[in-house]
Order: sequence, then structure tokens, then C-alpha cells
Amino acid sequence: MNNKELIELAASAAKNSYSPYSHFRVGAALLCDDGSVYLGCNIENSAYSATVCAERTAIFKAISDGKRGFQKIAVVGGEDGLLEKQCAPCGVCLQVMSEHCDASNFVVLLADNEGIHEYTLGEMLPYAFKK
Ligand code: THU
Repeated sequence: MNNKELIELAASAAKNSYSPYSHFRVGAALLCDDGSVYLGCNIENSAYSATVCAERTAIFKAISDGKRGFQKIAVVGGEDGLLEKQCAPCGVCLQVMSEHCDASNFVVLLADNEGIHEYTLGEMLPYAFKK
């Protein structure tokens, strides 16, 4: 599974986004150590705080299926052109990633007009809360 394929899967997941309030569609594709890929989209709620982001949807689906060990996640989002601007994971999603993924090795893939950009989780959340 190369980076472009993972970004394309994230874009396909965004099509299932339930976002009647923000009209901001987000998709995520999570690559597990065993090669399986879990997709997620954002799922909003009229009680706004009950909304779940695309990244957490994908991660929780995988964890719930018994998966452990993750390599990378591709995230795309936007109101119109999904691949125009980078859609960085929110702080809550980064914190969830930090629980399950290695800061130095886990990769976050974001896309924009210029191409695909790669960040480590540690670059995105350098001072993650750890108990
Ligand atoms: N959203 C995500 O799905 N992932 C993020 O990391 C940031 C934001 C969603 C939540 C909400 O449905 C919409 O984007 C607008 O905030």
C-alpha cells in the first residue's frame, strides 16, 4: 500500500461523511502492521460535542476489531476539493494516536495541491500527555 493509494482511500472514505452541520467532509485511512486498512469518516451530531472525527472513527474501528500496531494514517478533508489543502488531525485525534502509535515511527499523510506530505506523530504532537 503506497502513500498515494492510502490518500485515495481516505478520499473515498470522506464520501461517507455525515456532516450536515459543518458541511466539512473528512476521511481517514489507517494502515495496520498486518497490512489491513481501516477507513473512517467524520460523524456529526446535533449535540455538537458528540461528533466523532474521521481519524478516531478509523482508529476505534481497528482497535475494536482487535488490531494492534499501526504504520500510518492518511487524512483528507474540506468543504469542496478534498485534496486542495492539508487537513491536519485535531488535538484530540493526535492524543488518541499517541495512545496507540509510536511517536517516532507512526506517519501522518496529508495532501494538498502540491502533493502528499509526510509527518511523524512526534512532529505533530511533540509533548503528548502520557500517564
Ligand atoms: N474533523 C475531523 O473529522 N477530523 C479532524 O481532525 C478535525 C475535524 C471533523 C469534525 C467535524 O465534523 C468537522 O471536521 C468540522 O470540524
